[in-house]
Amino acid sequence: MNHQPVEGFSKLSKQGKIDWLIKEYLDGNKEHETVLTQYWNENPDLQKLHDEFSENTISNFFMPYGIAPNFLIDGKLLALPMAVEESSVVAAASKAAKFWIDKGGFKTTIINTEKLGHTHFIFKTEAHKLLHFFNFKLKKKLLEATEDITKNMRNRGGGILNIKLIDKTAELEDYFQLKASFDTVDSMGANFINSCLEQFGKTLKEEVANEESFSQEEKDSLQIVMNILSNYTPDCIVRAEVSCKIEDLKDDSGISNEEFAWKFKRAVTIAEIEPYRATTHNKGIMNGVDAVVIATGNDFRATEACAHAYAARNGKYSSLTHCTTDNGIFRFWIDLPISVGVVGGLTNLHPLVKFSLALLGKPSAQELMSILAVSGLAQNFGALRSLVTTGIQKGHMKMHLFNILNQFGATEEEKQHFVTYFKDKTVSHHEVIAELEKLRNR
Ligand code: MEV
Repeated sequence: MNHQPVEGFSKLSKQGKIDWLIKEYLDGNKEHETVLTQYWNENPDLQKLHDEFSENTISNFFMPYGIAPNFLIDGKLLALPMAVEESSVVAAASKAAKFWIDKGGFKTTIINTEKLGHTHFIFKTEAHKLLHFFNFKLKKKLLEATEDITKNMRNRGGGILNIKLIDKTAELEDYFQLKASFDTVDSMGANFINSCLEQFGKTLKEEVANEESFSQEEKDSLQIVMNILSNYTPDCIVRAEVSCKIEDLKDDSGISNEEFAWKFKRAVTIAEIEPYRATTHNKGIMNGVDAVVIATGNDFRATEACAHAYAARNGKYSSLTHCTTDNGIFRFWIDLPISVGVVGGLTNLHPLVKFSLALLGKPSAQELMSILAVSGLAQNFGALRSLVTTGIQKGHMKMHLFNILNQFGATEEEKQHFVTYFKDKTVSHHEVIAELEKLRNR
């Protein structure tokens, strides 16, 4: 069937949108409506709040919200909220937290908290002339022009840290940037940064137009291409680490402590040198980071983009974590670039986000950075620990078992049977199906 474009979809009521979708795409089958409406919230205020987060909403998409307890971070014991759909992420985090709790826990250091943004512009002029104009006139004007926008942020201890003129003409003809760094304190700061940058664009235009040292031809060549923050924040970095004597690295898989430390370190080295492995390794780290990023109402696309750009900063995609085993000490750490907020955005709106932040003791943005890096490091520790000993399928499939059983509509009694059946065996998809068939044909 060929579908017709729709006019004014956003103006239809929620029911109107659903009716249109069912008629146009779902053969008029009303059963689909039940799927959507069963997720509607009975509390009209809460539903309205969710509807207004985004556009054209017709239902709510649930994610499991779990807790990984026993995280000892910089001497504080925390229970981490994790919004994630993948089986075994929360279990792996909890297991790693427990492993490190009696070895001093996780230690973190904020290395820097600088956020960045650019005004990208094209200007047919000589770079030295532009630099002179920037240093002696424009920079001051840019700061003055944004004073109103930065006032509140300055009162909170943040604001614009610096503005530089960057000559990019070697890479693209006549291309320059105003590159600004910001301290956005407890907010992620996207709106603040973008507002400052848009003002930079306007001020740049005005000041160039009034500048006598530029010819009319030069003035006419100026084009502000865009004003936008960068999600790449290589100077907004937190380090999280764990360490202990190798003799205390007791693993329950049956291998010796030394062998475990050595195998673990080798797995990290492989991720450092091999991009195929690094991608999966870092994906596992982001399992832990994103789950807490989502639970705390932050932007997981931004944290993903930044982490992967940073992982490739030396020209080759590599591991975000590192490990050493020198002088009998096992040390494992992550340097994570991450820009998050605990005010603004969803943080004061989404009830579960408010709960997450309360659970974490109302952290500052820097404390949240630490928690996120720890969550990523713990997740990576859990994954590598399994990979170099038992393999991940044992733990993963155990957690995934209920998903498989639910696909086949298993009853509670059947589920109990499978828990016992797989107590000492690795779960596999085909064995679940075979055993279910046997059970049902008995
Ligand atoms: C699965 O979501 C993540 C892992 O593949 C990560 C890894 O291999 O390190 C287990």
